[in-house]
Amino acid sequence: MPQTNTPRLLLLPGDGIGPEVIGQVKRVAAWLAEHADLQLDIEERPFGGTSYDLYGTPLSDEARDLALSSQAVLMGAVGGPQWDAVPRDKRPEAGLLGLRKAMDAFANLRPALCFEALADASTLKREIVAGLDIMIVRELTSGVYFGDKGIDNNTPSGEKRGFDLQVYTQSEIERVARVAFELARSRRNKVTSAEKSNVMDSGLFWRQVVTALHARDYPDVQLEHMLADNAAMQLVKNPKQFDVIVTDNLFGDILSDEASMLTGSIGLLPSAALSTAGRPGLYEPVHGSAPDIAGKGLANPLAAILSFGMALRWSLGRPDLDQRLYAAVTAALDKGVRTGDLGGRNTTSEMGDAVLAAL
Ligand code: IPM
Ligand code: MG
Repeated sequence: MPQTNTPRLLLLPGDGIGPEVIGQVKRVAAWLAEHADLQLDIEERPFGGTSYDLYGTPLSDEARDLALSSQAVLMGAVGGPQWDAVPRDKRPEAGLLGLRKAMDAFANLRPALCFEALADASTLKREIVAGLDIMIVRELTSGVYFGDKGIDNNTPSGEKRGFDLQVYTQSEIERVARVAFELARSRRNKVTSAEKSNVMDSGLFWRQVVTALHARDYPDVQLEHMLADNAAMQLVKNPKQFDVIVTDNLFGDILSDEASMLTGSIGLLPSAALSTAGRPGLYEPVHGSAPDIAGKGLANPLAAILSFGMALRWSLGRPDLDQRLYAAVTAALDKGVRTGDLGGRNTTSEMGDAVLAAL
């Protein structure tokens, strides 16, 4: 029996390649438990479509409550074509959004780091991406994802319409911007805030709130405002101009997928979603469930392993082990081990083997 003060990590492997990549995390965690004095109580629950098939809901109350009483939650992936016909509120993605909301995991940290061994794997030129180290801070529990939405059948004109409302309160903007400013201070001290203040009132409001917070509490940090479309363009033109990018839920979703390709593959990008101090963090690889390769042992487990590293750093009190995992991943890539997303032929478990060997 684990001791009561042993931190709990809840694994939610989910759908598609989720169980395979989380499988490699389990091997890494077992190794660290044995060799690096990592004390963890690891639990696991079905999530997403897998949970829907079992219980008729993508996020069971029991899994949600366990998540809320854990120190960290590590998700694999959710979704797949087999759930396309399921009503929206029962879809795998609804389980993920519900979990983010329940955990109040508002600050989504999505680092985009280019490993030296992969500088040639990017679709961009080596000199554009080599040495890249940027951090996207995406607001994760509000905005258009959570505003009023619907498909209207009885409008006055009789024409149908669909809508999703973008709403941000002052405190929602302030708290995520604060995380970005704090992070910048420990990095290269620059924050780029991205919105569409030229067409959206909520974007104008976002800019005003960030400007005021900056003047009040973070005048020492360099702040730049950028329209989100320009930010998308600048990310491929000259990504190294950025340090920390803070942006809303929808733009953050898009810009972080874009940033992932700078690093060679979306199969490498970890993420952390943090709440207020003392609450559990939610960790997810940025990649999706990749139904086309699911179950074939071809997925890249590195994003999941690096997400576990972020959990060790931000929620489980072992930043030293995050550093060790990062070094082990670097070493595995330096050795030339490559899964299909990186243009190679190694399997999921061979990549796991390489990380373990490097540890
Ligand atoms: C992500 C994903 C999710 C999102 C989906 C699966 C709901 O794309 O985490 O980036 O849109 O937030
Ligand atoms: Mg996304």
